[in-house]
This record gives sequence, C-alpha cells and structure tokens, in this order.
Amino acid sequence: MAFWNRKKNPAAGEGVDLSRLPRHVGIIMDGNGRWAKKRGLPRTAGHAAGAETFRTIAYYCRDIGIPYLTVYAFSTENWKRPAEEVSAIMDLLGKYLQEVLEKMERDGFRVRFFGDLDPLPPALRGLCLQAEEKAAGLTGQRHQVNICLNYGGRDEILRAARAWGREVLAGRQSIDDLTDEVFSRYLDSRGMPDPDLIIRPSGELRLSNFLPWQSAYAELYFTDVLWPDFTPGVLDQALLAYQGRQRRFGGV
Ligand code: IPE
Ligand code: IPE
Ligand code: MG
Repeated sequence: MAFWNRKKNPAAGEGVDLSRLPRHVGIIMDGNGRWAKKRGLPRTAGHAAGAETFRTIAYYCRDIGIPYLTVYAFSTENWKRPAEEVSAIMDLLGKYLQEVLEKMERDGFRVRFFGDLDPLPPALRGLCLQAEEKAAGLTGQRHQVNICLNYGGRDEILRAARAWGREVLAGRQSIDDLTDEVFSRYLDSRGMPDPDLIIRPSGELRLSNFLPWQSAYAELYFTDVLWPDFTPGVLDQALLAYQGRQRRFGGV
C-alpha cells in the first residue's frame, strides 16, 4: 500500500517488506517503572522517558507507512497506583497533548482517544476534546494515532452496550439486527480496521484489558525490551516476525 510520506524517511523499515505492513499496530507501552528502577530513578522518570519513546515511534510508524497506531497510555486499572504517580502521568500527558495540538496538522497526524475521558482532570480532558475537534477538521491522508486514556476493554464494551441499548429503547436499533459489524460501530474504535499486530514490551505475556474485542485475530508480539528502551529497530523486529506469520482467520 502506497503511503504519501514514506519518501520522508526512505531508510526506515530496512529489512521489512514495506508492501506488506500491518495496517494497524497496537502497542502496550509497558515497563517504564522497571526501566527507572534499574537506573535508581523515581518511576516518574520512567514515564517521562516512555513518553519520548512514544513520540519517536509515532513518527516512525508515520514515516514507514503504517496508517493506524493505537497506544495504551493509561488503563482503567492504573488509578490503583499512588496518587503522586497518577498525577505525574496526567501532567506528562497534558504536556504531550499540547505538543500534539501544535504539531498534528503540520506533521500529518490525526489523533483520537479511546477510553472514558469523563473521570480525567478537567484540564486534561479539555485538551483531549480540543485535539479531537481539531483532528476532525483536518483533511487529507494522515497517520491516525489513537491514545488509550482511562481505557479498559471491558469498560469500552460496556459503554458500547449501553449506547446500543439506548438506541434499542428509542426504536432506532433492533435486538435481532445486532451483528459484529453493528456492535463495532459503538466501540471507541468505530470506523477503523482491527489491529493486525499487537506488541507488548517489558516481558509481560498478557493483554491487560487492551482491545479485547478488536484483538480477536491480531498477531501478538512480546519482547523483553522495556518501553523507554524501545526503538524503531525493535519495531522492525516485530514487523519482521509479523511478516513471517501465517494468518488464517479460521480458514485453511
Ligand atoms: C507503563 O509502565 C505505563 C503505565 C502503565 C502508565 P509501568 O508504569 O506499568 O511500568 P512497570 O510495568 O511498573 O515497569
Ligand atoms: C498496562 O500496563 C497498561 C498500560 C501500559 C497503560 P500495566 O503495567 O498496568 O499492566 P499489568 O498491571 O502489568 O497487567
Ligand atoms: Mg506495567
């Protein structure tokens, strides 16, 4: 698939077949705390380093021509962490969202948020809404970045079920017409293809409530690299592994 901005970084994706890239990559950005601990730094230093990695990888995906990137930034379960850590993460998110607002148009991105934004600090929630509003007004082929913020896959499915149920009560949907495709329209990922490849760094072998509906047929790739150490070269390794897989979708 040709993608407009590949020329900007022709060296990207060496060894990777650029004609067979996944359309949609999901990443669980895990391991920030352990990265900091290894260096004798506070966990928040790990989150700051991880945020830099997010920027690098988002531009890299854009440059090699992956149209959709979805990253797990903060889960519905992450509120269990100490208040200081949660608030440091929220501050960092605010800082990067300012940057997204400033650069999204120029740099060829379009951002959307997956998750329930209501419980977020009002200023942060405001930035998210501002960014989505701006994104909605942008035209042309763009690299779509979805940031999962106060996201939980079960929560997403419940919110979708409630929204669909309200439509049934209003007479605009019928129970017998509910299909996979109809239900998908109520999810945060509405209008987007399912992820082809989900990557989890940091050595944990689980999905931790990340895109349970959309990952039904995703290829999974795990690496021990901690998220702040994750580089375009590590992404290339994941892409190579992906390209070596045989996807059958239940067929033969
Ligand atoms: C991922 O890194 C970032 C968030 C969950 C917000 P962690 O903070 O989970 O890092 P580890 O897993 O403790 O190393
Ligand atoms: C998943 O990582 C959530 C994010 C990366 C945002 P966690 O560190 O919260 O997951 P568990 O607790 O190891 O399953
Ligand atoms: Mg973790």
